[in-house]
Amino acid sequence: MKIDLHKRISISEVQEKEEGTYAIVSGWAEHIKVIGKIAFIKLRDRTGYLQLVTTDKKLIKDLENLTKESVILVKGQVKKSKLKKGGNELNITDLEILSKAKPELPIDVTGKTPAEFSTRLDYRVLDLRKLKNKAIFTIRSKIIEAIDTFFAKKKFIKMQTPKLVGAGAEGGATLFVLDYYGKPAYLAQSQQLYKQLMNIAGFEKVYEIGPSFRAEKSHTTRHLSEFTHLDVEMSWIKSEEDLMKLEEELLEYILKYIRSHCKKELTALNVEINTPKLPLPRISYSEAIKMLQKTGSKIKLGEDIGTEGEKLLGELIKKKYNADAYFLTKFPWSLEVCKFYWMRDKSHGRGADLEFKGTEISTASQREHRYDKLVKQISEKNLKPEDFKYYTEPFRYGAPPHGGFGMGIDRLTQLILNLPNIREATLFPRDPERLVP
Ligand code: 4AD
Ligand code: MG
Repeated sequence: MKIDLHKRISISEVQEKEEGTYAIVSGWAEHIKVIGKIAFIKLRDRTGYLQLVTTDKKLIKDLENLTKESVILVKGQVKKSKLKKGGNELNITDLEILSKAKPELPIDVTGKTPAEFSTRLDYRVLDLRKLKNKAIFTIRSKIIEAIDTFFAKKKFIKMQTPKLVGAGAEGGATLFVLDYYGKPAYLAQSQQLYKQLMNIAGFEKVYEIGPSFRAEKSHTTRHLSEFTHLDVEMSWIKSEEDLMKLEEELLEYILKYIRSHCKKELTALNVEINTPKLPLPRISYSEAIKMLQKTGSKIKLGEDIGTEGEKLLGELIKKKYNADAYFLTKFPWSLEVCKFYWMRDKSHGRGADLEFKGTEISTASQREHRYDKLVKQISEKNLKPEDFKYYTEPFRYGAPPHGGFGMGIDRLTQLILNLPNIREATLFPRDPERLVP
């Protein structure tokens, strides 16, 4: 290698340089054009695009060999572009091809010739080269940064819990079963039971951002078989209201953080962020059913609100309260959402869903911390108490009142950025049809 790779700077840094100075850059040759005695290369790295120019005869001859999306290393002299808003260009002095791409590309990485979504996912690495995708995953990374900053300020402990588990936490229908040295084991559906155990261990405030697995057999735009799960649990709460306060503060913090740290990416994606007014509306399940019935919906009390109902409710709440986000509270105990570990108040569970832009992004609940009641609820929900012994036993030795919530990072990213499909917010999505790449 003749050109020193260690002296390479990014394309955005070239834009800061004085005319006449030299720069070394590297990246992908997205477009190559020879017009008579002058040649142009549109170079791309993760920071943007740079026009490379040459009138050197030998170089132009060599460029016949260069294919689109080949990786090149270039040294050149900075010059101002003649175009309005053109910024700096680079007049090539040396060029090395580090990796030559096959002449036929399976998808157009510029996105100008659109491909089917499934074809894009088949060639996800090429698809991810698009700067729009870089913007999505830069923002996703910043969402996680915001969450970490928020919980560090609140003195939460970040934990990592097992993903190979002996019992499901969120219901049998979505369990992945696998062979664990001849015995059945499962992929964790959530951090739920372990985060509760951390509270019984006295850690008081814990959270995790990790993978969860759900065998979601239906194909939807908001479910994945593997997703990234923020799970939070804290002790000494009086009711689910304490959790809703924490959650709405978190949502506000994330949205403000993204708005101030990701301006360039939001512009690239043409997304505007409205920050919510706190407190968010709290709508009880029965109020929600009434609102839906008023619009002519046939839904009855005791039925699940469902995806369509949720969407419609989101629109009704937006009209009534001018809010993108709200809490759905006071679910009847018979509903699926009320899990065995929830605390129960007579006819309803002490939990709440956080709804954002017409879709659930989080479920919270105060937990049942009294051993006898907990074991009874496991049986009532048609599960076997002996399967959960490792979890229930510690409750016999002193459990604080506690509760928490889980929030999907993929879904949150999708909704913040108004993406039509959760898979757009996931690097390598997993669903019933897809296990590779
Ligand atoms: O509502 P879920 O199932 O609640 C729990 O996991 C509880 N342990 C939380 C608690 O503390 N009570 O999942 C929480 C969130 C959902 O609101 C959604 O955002 C996301 O996790 N989620 C999924 N995201 C993508 N694909 C899936 N299959 C998901 N399932 C849940
Ligand atoms: Mg839920």
